[in-house]
This record gives sequence, C-alpha cells and structure tokens, in this order.
Amino acid sequence: MFGKLLSYEVNDKEIKIQYEKIEATITVINDEVINFFVPLHRKERNSKAVENLNLRNSNFSVEKNENTLNIATEKLKIVINDDFKIDIYDKNEKVLCRDYRSIRHPFKRRGNGTELAAEEGHVLNGHQNFKVYVAKTMEDNMYFYGLGERTGSLNKKGYHYRNWNTDDPSPHGETFEQLYKSIPFLISIKDEEAFGIFFDNHFESHFDMGKENSEYYYFSAVGGNLDYYFIYGPEVKDVVNEYTNLTGKTPLPQLWTLGYQQCRWSYAPKERVMEIAKSFRERGIPCDTLYLDIDYMDDFRVFTWDNKKFENPREFTDELKNMGFKLVTIIDPGVKIDKEYSIYAEGIKNDYFAKDKDGIVYKNRVWPGDSVYPDFMNPKVRQWWAENQKIMIDSGVSGIWNDMNEPASFNGPLPDDVMFNDNGLEVTHKEIHNIYGHMMSKATYEGIKEYTNKRPFVITRACYAGTQKYSTVWTGDNQSTWEHLRMSIPMLMTLGLSGVSFCGTDVGGFGHDCTGELLSRWVQVGAFTPLFRNHSAMGTRDQEPWTFDKETEEINKKYIKLRYKLIPYLYDLMKECENTGAPIIRPLLFNYQNDKNTYEINDEFLCGDSILVSPVVEQGMKQKLVYLPKGTKWIDFWTGENHNGGQYIIKEAPLDTCPIFVKEASIIPMSIEQNYIGEKSNDELILNIYLSENDSEFKYVHYNDDGESFNYRNGIYNEYEITISNKENIDIKFIINKNDYINKYSKVKFIINNLKTNKNITLNGKKVNLENNAIEINL
Ligand code: GLC
Repeated sequence: MFGKLLSYEVNDKEIKIQYEKIEATITVINDEVINFFVPLHRKERNSKAVENLNLRNSNFSVEKNENTLNIATEKLKIVINDDFKIDIYDKNEKVLCRDYRSIRHPFKRRGNGTELAAEEGHVLNGHQNFKVYVAKTMEDNMYFYGLGERTGSLNKKGYHYRNWNTDDPSPHGETFEQLYKSIPFLISIKDEEAFGIFFDNHFESHFDMGKENSEYYYFSAVGGNLDYYFIYGPEVKDVVNEYTNLTGKTPLPQLWTLGYQQCRWSYAPKERVMEIAKSFRERGIPCDTLYLDIDYMDDFRVFTWDNKKFENPREFTDELKNMGFKLVTIIDPGVKIDKEYSIYAEGIKNDYFAKDKDGIVYKNRVWPGDSVYPDFMNPKVRQWWAENQKIMIDSGVSGIWNDMNEPASFNGPLPDDVMFNDNGLEVTHKEIHNIYGHMMSKATYEGIKEYTNKRPFVITRACYAGTQKYSTVWTGDNQSTWEHLRMSIPMLMTLGLSGVSFCGTDVGGFGHDCTGELLSRWVQVGAFTPLFRNHSAMGTRDQEPWTFDKETEEINKKYIKLRYKLIPYLYDLMKECENTGAPIIRPLLFNYQNDKNTYEINDEFLCGDSILVSPVVEQGMKQKLVYLPKGTKWIDFWTGENHNGGQYIIKEAPLDTCPIFVKEASIIPMSIEQNYIGEKSNDELILNIYLSENDSEFKYVHYNDDGESFNYRNGIYNEYEITISNKENIDIKFIINKNDYINKYSKVKFIINNLKTNKNITLNGKKVNLENNAIEINL
C-alpha cells in the first residue's frame, strides 16, 4: 500500500520514513512506548485523548539494513519493512507483535438467503472495507483484554467490536458490538508477557481479535490517520500505566463521591426527594448522594428548574446538605428549541450549535422535543457550557451527570455530514461522533473546577480514550437481570484496564423490575465498585434498599456499611490510581499475571491488592466456587480461615454473605461507621492487619488529605507508613512520613485479625500488650 521503504531521517525522537507513496513517522516516546503515524487524513495529529505527548529520555539506535530499518530501544527491537510492515520483538528477540503479511481472508458466511433473514430482522454483518487497516499475526497463546465498556467475557479473543458510541436501550447482550463508549485500546498477553495497542482514531473503528480469521487480529477505521501506540509491558500493570501516561490518569475524586449514591428516574417533586433522604437517615442506611434525573427541569430545558416541583432550589439543596446529602443533577446536551429560552437564544445568537452541510442549525429530537446540539468541538462553546455550570452550582448542586452524549437522537442518527468547528477546523459528525461526550465532559469538568475550586464530580455515559481525566462513568441502561449482574463484572474490570477506573453500573439494574435477591447480590458487588450508585428507570418497581423486604434492607445496610468502613482503603486506591493508573477493581490477572488460571476469571475481582471478591451472581445459589491465585495465602474475611492460593474452594454463601478474601500480609485501613462522609470527625485511623503464616515483612502507606480541594497537589496531605515484620517477634513500625494537612488523626488502632501465635509484639520498638487483638495509641 505504501510501497518501498526509500529513505529515513532521524530528528530527535522522530524517525521520518519516506515510502514510495507516503511519509510515515515513528516516534520513540520512551523505551517501552512507540508511536506509528501515517497522515492518511490530515498532516497533523489532532488527538483529543493525548493532550500532552510527553517524550521521555531513551537511548535508541536506528540502523538501515538492505530492506529494513531497525530501531532498538533498551526494551524493544522494531523492524520496519516495505509497506510499513512492522515487527516488534522484546530485548530477548522474542516476537511480541508482527504485522500480518497476507491478504484478508474472512470466514465464509454460508447461505444465500440473507435478504430473507433480514426481513425477519436478523442483522448479518458482512466484512467491511476500511480506509485505515492494520492486521497483526495471531500467535499461539494470545489473550486479549481492554477496549473499554464491552459485553461478554474478559478475554476478547475470537470477538469483533466496533467503536461507535451508541445509545441502545434494548437489553445489552454478548451480541452487542458497540455500546456508549469508545476506547480503542487493546491489551494482549502472550506467554505471560503483555503489550498494548492504542489506536488513537476517533472515527468509527473496529477491533477484531481473530474472529474474521484466527490467523490474524486487526484494528481499523473508516477514516482518519493511522496513529497508534505500541506499549510494552511486560506486566499488564506497566501497559496500563503507560497508556494512562498518554491519555491521563483518573484524578483523585472528592471523598464523598466514594459514598453510596441513590438515584432514580422520577425523583421529583422536592417532597419525594426529601422522603427518600429521610428514609435513609431514619433507617440508618449510609448515603452521601442523591440524584435528580430529567424530571427536575422545566420541560427538559437544560440548566433550568421546574419551579412547581422545586420552588426554591437553593433552599432545597441546603436542606439536603444539612442532612448530609449532596445533590447531583443530570444535564443532557440537547438544547430545546424555544426562542424564549435563554440557553437556546444565547446559543443561536453566538452560533454555538452544530449545523447541517448547508450551514443551517441541525435539529433532532431528544427529551425536550425538537432540540439542537452544542458544538463541543468549539472552545468558545466549551467555555460557554463551562460557564453554564455555575447556574447549577449556584443552586447548590455538587456534581453533574452528563447523559445522552453519544449523542443520542430520537429521529434517527445524526447524518455523517453534520458540521462542527474544531477550533477553526471544519469537522464532520462522522469524524467527531466518538468524542462528542468526551468534549462535553471536559467542558463540564472545567466549569465546575473553575467555579468551585474543588475536584469536580462529573459522571458521563459516552466517552472516548482519556475521558477518565474529566469524568467518572456508569455503564448506561442495564437491566435488572442476573445476566446483567454477571456481565457487570468483566465490563467494569475491562473499563478499569482501559484507564477508566472510576466506574460503576446501575446497582440493581436500570430497566425491568428488580427482585430483593438480585438487589442483595448486586449491592455486594457495588460495595466494591468505585462508583456505587443504585439507579432505576421510571415505571419500574421501586428499588431503594428498603423497598423489598426486611432481609433485603438488612443486606443492603450491611454492605453499604462495609463500604463506608472501607473508604480510607478505597481512597488510598484512588490515590494510587492517580499515580500509576492501576484500576480499583481489577481482574485477578492484573496482580497474578504469572498464574494463567486467572486469565479468564469473569466472576471474581480484586479490589486493590489486598481484597479478593467472588460475588454470587446466580439466582438461588448459596455456595460459590472461588479461585484463589497462586503464590500467597488468602484469609476468609468473614471466618478468618486460611486458604492456600492456587486452588479452587467452595465457599458457603447464604444470601447475606459475599465471599471476600484478604491476601495474607496485608494492611487495610478502615474508618469508623458513619451515615455520610464527614458526619463524624475523622480522627481515628483503624488499621486491620492480616499476618502471613510464614515470616514476612510488609508495608502499607496510607494517604489522607482534605478530601475535596486541590491543595494536595501543593503538598498539603498526610502520609503514614506502617511496616510489619512478622519474624521472631511481631514488630509494628508506624511512621508519619508527611504531616502537612491540618486535620490529623489523633488515634490509631491496630487490629491483628489473625493472631495465632504468642510472639512478643512491639510497636515502634516498645513491647505492647493487645486487648482483643487490638492496641490503640494516641498521636
Ligand atoms: C437515559 C439514561 C438513564 C436516565 C434516562 C432519563 O436512559 O441512561 O440513566 O435515567 O436517560 O434521563
């Protein structure tokens, strides 16, 4: 396609290669990350995912052989051939990734009666031709992960997915090739060695992991440049870290956002919301956040309130605040066409809406009826949208929920040629569809940041690679079915591997009617997912924790309370995530890549390094088959029983028990019980220690700050380091590494959960006696 490799030129980190037909550029980002770029669409890269391409030091060499160009970094050897065919090896010359040389050879779809099948509504996808297409040779033993929000199992081998943000409310099943989000980032493990491919192209793109033909896997797009990054591991952890170095880390959120959140489409008028709020407090079920869905607006006009339902929004949000609740309101992109409506009038006056190919403002239909679409590609429009956030913030709202931003449209899809203005560059809907929600979230994030000076809480449905910098996500309109509870686990693990760590599903399911048993099991998963929000659709049965029976309410309470205890641990994980990109809930393989048994586990996850959760996801099931990874022992969180890793066990799991295991040699910080974050002063740190049976030394670093501002970025935080040496004695060392945040803990309680010896115990060198396996000190 590109012809013969003619010549090359090295310019700092860039290697420009002249082919017969086109010039290609290879950029050595660092020893592990290499970018391959061919300007098939535009000369310049116009990435919305990678905002700062940070080139790090690396010593690489470039050498031309007769037919190839060889690039060597400390970690990789890259061989470039004619036609921009690329082969990548690790430093031991082991093949990691080789371009496929033969032509495409799709499997045969038998039968001539496809028209007939289509008449009944069957969708039969033929194979498509693409403008941008790269096929790689499928090697033995390859596993594939990532690609963002996906139905189906963790391992994507044998499947094909499409990136085209889509609002399809019908029950999401394994046959769905696209959902609301597009993250063209794939991870592969081969012989325990991992690498990633990030195809930064926001046109409709495709990833096929050997479905079309098991000899190759490919990524492709209907337009745009060839622009992809090869990211070497060898650990999945390294790949995710480097990917999030490119596209951005999930920033540390405000602490309250980690609490329990309650939502429902139909929370209006004010009296109904207050009834829900009171119910939480009266029943002693912790909750931090309530949501208002589209019902609060004046006829679905964004940035307005229906004053009949909410007479005085500020008074209402203050009342909620006094009870310890934050309020999050929905904002959709569709702006109602109504000359009397200021947002519409302003947008028209300033030329802020997307236009059709003839330059007329484009309209479609969403909740408010005929509506127009803000052009979020235009920085002026983003600035305007950011300023509009002030309207909500001034009414006392604490976070914004961005929905319908695929963008959704009720009168058929937006045509490809709807026009947007990308900072002076005319771009089509075909090009920017997949980043529309991303740019909307960015505007929302920036507005909230500016007006509150706190860490913004934005939650979005549509996203592209890199949206994690601006927003948390939920997985859209799931259903109250067991199938969807099961599916949520690989889906959230996959989002986490794709950089989007702050994620969750609608707990209990959105569409369809939930049951008490299903909600009880779902809350056991939700308690560990970073975003913990129960949400349901208008017209479905009530789904708040108390709306089934006493047992369901008690189970909800138990797990929501457990969640609140774990908040210091989860916050530490969020901090780690901001530094390394490591997801909060992760597939077992993330920590146990050398244990192949973990590669296809769909119904278990790790919450950080120390907690393994193996929830029950089948109706009626009261026992769970649990795999415990190799190389460590696992302690049953409920019974304290010890299990060897590298085996399957059967765990008794009556409805109120979610199988939870703690890795030996762990320290888990916990907090006292409270009804909402900030209810009680946070002056006691509880450190739950889980010793290992053998001699060991292990360490944990706990982080704490004001939980809302950006001051931590200026060093205003506290850091505590706990080291346990379990040898002749059990020596606990507690050090304050950093002490700059003013609200400090005044007490620390050390609890040794599995103390089975009568060894001497010392704390910072002094012998101590435990009472009920615990010792408390004042700081
Ligand atoms: C969409 C959202 C859902 C919301 C509804 C009404 O379906 O996905 O969460 O409740 O719109 O706004």
